[in-house]
Amino acid sequence: MCGIVGYIGNREAYPIVLKGLKRLEYRGYDSAGIALINDQKVKVYKKQGKVADLEETLLGVNLHSHIAIGHTRWATHGEPSDANAHPHLSPSGKIAMIHNGIIENYLPIKKELLAKGYSFQSETDTEVLLCFIEDIQTCNQCNLEEALRIALRRIVGAYCLLLIDEENPETIIAARKGSPLVIGIGKNEHFLASDASPIIEYTKEVVYVKDYEIAIVKKDELVLKNLGNENQTPFIIQLDLDLAAIEKGGYDHFMLKEICDQPQTIHDCLRGRLDADTGQITLSGIQEYLEEIIRANRIIIIACGTSWHAGLVAEYIFEELCRIPVEVEYASEFRYRNPIIHLGDIIIAISQSGETADTIVAIEKAKEQGAIILGVVNVVGSTIARISHAGAYTHAGPEIGVASTKAFTGQLAVLMLMALKIGNAKKTIDQEKYQLLCKELSKVPDKVAEILLQEKRIKEIAIKYKSARDFLYLGRGYNFPIALEGALKLKEISYIHAEGYPAAEMKHGPIALVDEHLPIVFIATNDTFHSKIISNMQEIKARKGKIISIITDGDETASEISDDFIAMPWMNEIFAPIINVIPLQLLAYFIGTENGHDVDKPRNLAKSVTVE
Ligand code: F6R
Repeated sequence: MCGIVGYIGNREAYPIVLKGLKRLEYRGYDSAGIALINDQKVKVYKKQGKVADLEETLLGVNLHSHIAIGHTRWATHGEPSDANAHPHLSPSGKIAMIHNGIIENYLPIKKELLAKGYSFQSETDTEVLLCFIEDIQTCNQCNLEEALRIALRRIVGAYCLLLIDEENPETIIAARKGSPLVIGIGKNEHFLASDASPIIEYTKEVVYVKDYEIAIVKKDELVLKNLGNENQTPFIIQLDLDLAAIEKGGYDHFMLKEICDQPQTIHDCLRGRLDADTGQITLSGIQEYLEEIIRANRIIIIACGTSWHAGLVAEYIFEELCRIPVEVEYASEFRYRNPIIHLGDIIIAISQSGETADTIVAIEKAKEQGAIILGVVNVVGSTIARISHAGAYTHAGPEIGVASTKAFTGQLAVLMLMALKIGNAKKTIDQEKYQLLCKELSKVPDKVAEILLQEKRIKEIAIKYKSARDFLYLGRGYNFPIALEGALKLKEISYIHAEGYPAAEMKHGPIALVDEHLPIVFIATNDTFHSKIISNMQEIKARKGKIISIITDGDETASEISDDFIAMPWMNEIFAPIINVIPLQLLAYFIGTENGHDVDKPRNLAKSVTVE
């Protein structure tokens, strides 16, 4: 939620910050702005709309500066507007600040400041915080760094802040709690950003700023302090990320590129971990906790959105292969309940970004009560990766399209590996089945590549149904979560109402919706429940619903009942979800694009939900 970028060094700052904002636009795109110091004055330029709109209005403006900060917004306090866009200016007009996060106690502070005679140009919590900081500076006659420290001790909420001050034009001051901040270290220059994507073009040496740290960044110096003003040692790490991975590579959209990347990303996830010939699974991240996992009475999976759907698939697989009871919880519900956690319970936290606020707090809560946290995370070095006791990266590479695709299949691949490894160690899978499943899992990348060849056919189906008002997605067993995921993908990028349901539950309510206008997507590949789902399809057919089905190649019974079908290569039912989701991603993509939507930046959404 919201992307922030900063630069200080010898180069022109504006083009670097602008490019960085474009790379971070997936985090929010309702308004954008930059602040820089030019002619010894802080100047702010901001605008409702996308980064490209800001760029257009700045053509011809003198933006010469070696220090700048920029922001791309996902509105929390105050509607998207020029006034609410960041950066905000302090009452004196000398300090500019950008913010990613939410200041929860901004209202009482605002009241105090109003009583002191201050007024505000925007409805944001950010402007209140900046006014508060400058007021502290004035009252205490202290420097900006000290005022910021005092202010942050009173603040409740989450923030990543960057400030520039015309009184001190050689410094960017940054602070974080809850919202991410990476600092790239160049030669006589520093880059600041919400994630590494704006930085890797210039340097691979980065520091991930920790919660409650303040960074004082000059072109040739980086000082980290805690809120008690004690120096902290910056921990420099080397990024393992390529520029090509964050570019579109000839595709119309990141979403399509990311869907088509999946044979490779799943391969990358399995590489070095799964040896299908020997049945060896190496997950060094969880090895240390294997005994505890085997002994665990319960696994609790916490996640949000698509990652939660990956958790639901894992529930079926872990219970089948490891015989450990699994509960799958929305992080946002879990954190506010009084969950019962026993010492030794295993928590698996799943997150693409590793920065989802609800998941982070849920982890912290479970950790306090003695649970072991295993993170399944995509973004290397992210908060969830760091606060988990152990875990495994999904290795899907940067996911930029807002709708999660390759990260989801990466999560499934890791969870499938974990289930096989634990089941084998626990001896809850017989050896023959284990060897067979290892071989099956190793074939997933090739099968996904085979499915992608049907892109044209899926596009035709999308065109046929693109004007439907509602969709229903039905699946059973391992494929029930895939019905939920298919419906979520369609909703978020096409704005068509879609519901996912267990196919058998349809009779308990949703069947009332069925008529000749309702397309119903059945995930009906061959599995234990196949004859049951065929009956469900017949029930829909009898009520004139339009059936689009995902079936196993050669299944004539299913193809005959269907109005349209997509044939899948055969796959063991346990791993079917990882391939069955692919046509649903493409279907949503084509319905979205055929309806003229910006599928990479769907309205109201942001990739990384760093507010609760
Ligand atoms: C949907 C989607 C979201 C995320 C959710 C959790 O396509 O991307 O539902 O899955 O916001 O995000 P992470 O996985 O980053 O914790």
